[in-house]
Amino acid sequence: MEAVVIPFYAPSIDESDIEAIASVMRSGWLASGPRVREFEQRFAEKTGATFAVATSSCTAALFCALRSMGIGPGDAVIVPSLTFTATAEAVLQNGAKVVFSDVGANCTMATAATIRSAIESHRAETGKDVSAVVITHYGGEIAGDIGAINELCRELGIVLINDCAHCLDSSFLSKTPVDEAWLPVGKLPGLCCFSFYPNKCITTGLGGMITGNDADIIAACRALVNHGISRSANRFNWDYEITSEGFNFNMPDTAAAMGIAQLLKSSALHYARSSASMRYDAAFLDHRYLRIVTGKLSTSRSSNHLYAVALDHPTISRDSLIGSLLERGIEASVHWRPLHRHKVYQQLIQNGRVFCDELINSDNLSSRILSLPLYPSLQTFEQDQVISAVNEILLAY
Ligand SMILES: Cc1ncc(COP(=O)(O)O)c(C=O)c1O
Repeated sequence: MEAVVIPFYAPSIDESDIEAIASVMRSGWLASGPRVREFEQRFAEKTGATFAVATSSCTAALFCALRSMGIGPGDAVIVPSLTFTATAEAVLQNGAKVVFSDVGANCTMATAATIRSAIESHRAETGKDVSAVVITHYGGEIAGDIGAINELCRELGIVLINDCAHCLDSSFLSKTPVDEAWLPVGKLPGLCCFSFYPNKCITTGLGGMITGNDADIIAACRALVNHGISRSANRFNWDYEITSEGFNFNMPDTAAAMGIAQLLKSSALHYARSSASMRYDAAFLDHRYLRIVTGKLSTSRSSNHLYAVALDHPTISRDSLIGSLLERGIEASVHWRPLHRHKVYQQLIQNGRVFCDELINSDNLSSRILSLPLYPSLQTFEQDQVISAVNEILLAY
C-alpha cells in the first residue's frame, strides 16, 4: 500500500474545539443541554433559517424530517441515485418506497425534468403517485433547478426535503417574476438536513441539524429526536409528557460545544476552501481531458465542500487515474457510485422496495467523475503537487 502524502480530507480542528469540549466535560452536563440549544440558535442565525433542531447525524435528520411530514408505509419518495446511501436509507427506514431519479445531462443533480420523468415512469408502472422529493445538493452547490423543483412539488401537493449535508455557507439565487435575491441555504423551501461528519464543512465528530421555517413541523422533528417528550407539558422539574412516538437522536453537549466553536470559524474555513477551489479552476479550466463539474452554476454560491471533475480521456480510465494519483501519494475519491449500482439496492429493486428506470446520465457521469483533495489546511504547494500529478498522468499519453 502506498503512503498517502496528501489525504483526500483532513478535518480542521484547533485548540478552540478542544477547549470547548473540555469545558463541557468540566461542567458535569454531558447529555443534550444548554450547549445544544445555543448551537441550534446560532446555526439558525448562520443559515438564515427560523428554527433548527440538532440531531445525532444527518441520516437521523433526514429520517425525522421525512417522518415529521407524515412519510411512511405506502408512500413513494423521489431520491437521486447519485447521492450517499443515507438519503435513500432515511426513506426506506420510514417504511416508504424509494423512486430513483436521474441527474440532468452534464449535471450532478436532479432537475425538475428528471424528477417529473421518474414520477411518470413510476406511475406508468404502478399506477401510484409519489408523496415527497428529497433533493441532494451536490458538493455544496444548491441545485440550479430548485425553484422549478419547488414549483413541481407545489403543483403535485408533495413534500420537499433538502439533503444539505454539504451545504453550510451555501447560498442560492432566488427568482420570482418581479424580483431576484441571493439567499442563504436555510431559506430553501422545505426542510433542510445538514451533516457534521468529520469530512463536512464543519464537524462535531458525528452530528446533524434540521432547519425549517414551520413551527409545527419543527416541533414534530424535535419530539421525534427526543423520545416524543414534550417539556411544555411538565408541571415539575422531574415531570414531562410523552406526546408522540420518538427516538433517541439527540446530540450531546460535548458535540454541540464543538459545533459552536466550529461555527465561529466556518466563514474562514469556507473562504479557504473557496480559494483552493479557485486555484483548481485556474488549472483545469479548458483542460483537454477534464471538465469541472462542481461550482459552475450561476445560480448558486457553493460551500465548496467538494471539487469534482469528469474525465474524458481516450486511454486512461477514471479508476486508473485515481490509482496513478495514489502511487504518487495523493488520495482522490468518487462521489458517488450511484445507489442503483450497489448490490443491496439491486435486491431492493428486485423486491419492489425501490423503483428504478434507466438512469443514463447518472451512469455516464459516475463512471467519469473524481473528487480531488479540498480542505482548509490543504497547502498551496500540496495543491500544486495534485495539479502537476494530474497533468503528468493525463498528458503523458
Ligand atoms: C449527501 C449526504 N447525505 C447524507 C449524509 C449522511 O450524513 P451523516 O454521516 O451525518 O449521517 C452524507 C454523508 O456523507 C452525505 O454525503
